Amino acid sequence: MHPDSNILKIDNLSKFFGGLAAVDSCSLKIKRGSITGIIGPNGSGKTTLFNLIAGNLKPNDGKVIFNDEDITHVPSYELFSKGILRTFQIAHEFSNLTVLENLMMVPGNQSGENLINALLKPSIIKKEEDELRKKAYEVADFLNLKYLANELAGNLSGGQKKLLELGRTMMVDAKLVLLDEVGAGVNRTLLKDLGTAILRLNKEKGYTFCMIEHDMDFISRMCDPVIVMADGSVLFEGTSDEVKTNEKVIESYLGKANKNVGD
Ligand SMILES: Nc1ncnc2c1ncn2[C@@H]1O[C@H](COP(=O)(O)OP(=O)(O)OP(=O)(O)O)[C@@H](O)[C@H]1O
Ligand SMILES: [Mg+2]
Repeated sequence: MHPDSNILKIDNLSKFFGGLAAVDSCSLKIKRGSITGIIGPNGSGKTTLFNLIAGNLKPNDGKVIFNDEDITHVPSYELFSKGILRTFQIAHEFSNLTVLENLMMVPGNQSGENLINALLKPSIIKKEEDELRKKAYEVADFLNLKYLANELAGNLSGGQKKLLELGRTMMVDAKLVLLDEVGAGVNRTLLKDLGTAILRLNKEKGYTFCMIEHDMDFISRMCDPVIVMADGSVLFEGTSDEVKTNEKVIESYLGKANKNVGD
């Protein structure tokens, strides 16, 4: 067991776009082993926060600490190898590759990428590729996508593409997985599969999840705690029931878009 119960700590993080503070002195902690939800009105800085954590954007101020290590200025590919993975609000599949090939694209440092190895040690490369393929089949099976293993990813439904995004996080040794609206546009049946896969990965593989979602039913089923963002920082943190009845939270949604919490 790691001595610190928080896998991630964010300390006064800020990101400006011109004059706009998209993330504004934001501080929060993510508990190791949790499935933490992040909600908030459109434009409240949720995706920008993920981009800052995952090294896709550089903050103007503040710190990101992962397992007691300052990772504020660590580039995304290094964070990937430390086990911080993210999915994108819009799925990033390679549409001309099959489901299996998409999964096999993920891990870096394969011997085949090195020209010397490719020329001198073809048997090592063959073995690695066989192992990778086996792993990709296992992942496809876990996500009920095995029957689509040889389908082009471009032909998948929106929901199946979201499952594939989740699958890509399973090809490496993930520790913290950031899901940006993984449930959006996914039909009810697939959303259930997606939820089950996330819960299993959390329980069986010990992944910590942090998920941005708008679907409050999905959040209630999956997440504890739920962090509510407004105007680039944390407005409230509590259980999903506490969030739904909190005056400040309701006001922030009504004030922003005349919408109900979770719309
Ligand atoms: N690359 C960018 N350049 C300029 N402004 C940006 C950029 N990315 C985000 N913003 C602005 O920063 C603010 C926060 O955006 P962000 O995408 O983080 O919100 P969000 O909470 O994820 O919203 P949504 O729920 O709609 O996905 C918004 O006002 C947005 O217009
Ligand atoms: Mg967003």
